[in-house]
Amino acid sequence: MNTKSTIYDCSIIYFRKIVNRAGNITPIENCRDIPFNVKRVYYLYDIPGGESRGGHAHLNLQQLIIAASGSFDVLIDDGHNKKLVMLNRPYLGLLVVPGIWRELVNFSSGAICLVLASFKYEESDYIRDYLAFKKTKSLP
Ligand code: TYD
Repeated sequence: MNTKSTIYDCSIIYFRKIVNRAGNITPIENCRDIPFNVKRVYYLYDIPGGESRGGHAHLNLQQLIIAASGSFDVLIDDGHNKKLVMLNRPYLGLLVVPGIWRELVNFSSGAICLVLASFKYEESDYIRDYLAFKKTKSLP
């Protein structure tokens, strides 16, 4: 894991919006619009009111989180600093680098959270214990 990564390494990316009177398109291409190759796409939906998701960090995975519909907030935490990022437009993405604790909260009704990920699913890439995460981030 990147024990030195900080919330300031995470950034909001504004994607292109191709506007048409019949609706808009936002394309995302590997390495052109985002700084990694997408190996996996997944999305969260039918999230009950008041629920939160996430609550973990990744050792190596990079992710791009998009509110494809509706809105939600992403709490990012590097063990020292925290920030709440609101996602509420389908042309905005939050790049989350490895070694950042994240929680997804305040989902609006009908929200869809689209995630582009740099690797296939691997449970061994997760840190699900916050204290263990904090420990890795306080290593010299
Ligand atoms: P998890 O990433 O813990 O969900 P969240 O952080 O959104 O609360 O995943 C929940 C479950 O889904 C877990 O048992 C693993 C499984 N899962 C996959 O099988 N493939 C995937 O790509 C993802 C993201 C999760």
